[in-house]
Amino acid sequence: MAGVLIERAGFLASLEGLLGEALDGSGRLVFLGGEAGVGKTTLAAALADAAAVPVRRGSCDNVTTAEALGPILDALPELIAAVDDEAGVSRLRLFRNVRGALSGSPMLLLLEDVHWADEATLDILRYLGRRLAGVRLMILATFRSEEVSRDHPLTVVMGDLAGLSGVVRMQLPPLTATGVRQLLDAAGSALDADAIFQRTGGNPFYLTEVLAAGAEQVPATVRDAVLARVARLSQAGRDAAAAASVLGRRAEVGFLAAVSGQPLTAVGECLDRGVLVADGDAVGFRHDLARPPRSPRPALPVSARTARPRSSSGWRCGITCRPTGSGPCFSSSYRTSAT
Ligand SMILES: Nc1ncnc2c1ncn2[C@@H]1O[C@H](COP(=O)(O)OP(=O)(O)OP(=O)(O)O)[C@@H](O)[C@H]1O
Ligand SMILES: [Mg+2]
Repeated sequence: MAGVLIERAGFLASLEGLLGEALDGSGRLVFLGGEAGVGKTTLAAALADAAAVPVRRGSCDNVTTAEALGPILDALPELIAAVDDEAGVSRLRLFRNVRGALSGSPMLLLLEDVHWADEATLDILRYLGRRLAGVRLMILATFRSEEVSRDHPLTVVMGDLAGLSGVVRMQLPPLTATGVRQLLDAAGSALDADAIFQRTGGNPFYLTEVLAAGAEQVPATVRDAVLARVARLSQAGRDAAAAASVLGRRAEVGFLAAVSGQPLTAVGECLDRGVLVADGDAVGFRHDLARPPRSPRPALPVSARTARPRSSSGWRCGITCRPTGSGPCFSSSYRTSAT
């Protein structure tokens, strides 16, 4: 089923059209909304795959404390020094520098999950949205619609930019009953498409979890689907999954095994059963929604529970804590429970 993109041809064509306009010098800022798991990241990845232009990526999450300009610096690490130099000086000068870096050459900038973005990132989107003319840049910013209430800062930014010619807002709907049937066919599933559509509301993430659960029992909710997948693991695998859930989206394999108090094979089992996916030498949940709910004080070995923060971005503990990618490998809730 991997690679099957259902009922998104029209959206992809629209995005490709906007990217073409951007590359012709009329920069575009696209806000792509939709419910959790509806396929925003998948669609953005399809655009990136098709784009004949360098792609930069930055993402926001709810696992680590939002860092000022975090997703922008993820995408453009070459700006880190400049941003540090400008700290506390002039925000306008900083924003000009960022715009300068983004205008240097044609680019597609993917900013994921901006409903969790820090204030400075939202401010820069507001700034850039008004200064897209003459820039060969398309910014595609995804967000979960249900997270964005009327008074959410992102709503305010989108409202401020509404009506500007370079700024576009798109809403991605769930799959239709026909789309659900196509997805089940593509997966070779014999499940009743109409019943599954009723149950899942056409949400692709939920659908993929239902397919993973097999035909015997269709999980009643996304949460049930996630818990059912984890419940099929051995105790060691469940411990590894629980530790991964606490640590956040990604963790180095050896570190995860050590924190969970289980051998590497327990992490391997999670990978084999699709609970975790590999990303270089790190592993993480294949999707934010696939992370089992965290208990307020997780059952972790004492060595892990007694870890103490070293700074806002790092940790002091007995085991090497290697940050993976952009964010530290501990979650903010773990910080609370560990201190
Ligand atoms: N159009 C589609 N056809 C088939 N499968 C899809 C489609 N869209 C998404 N999926 C599958 O659904 C799952 C969830 O998709 P995705 O991660 O893109 O959702 P999302 O909207 O980015 O969710 P979130 O709000 O949590 O970031 C993925 O496993 C993906 O493979
Ligand atoms: Mg996503």
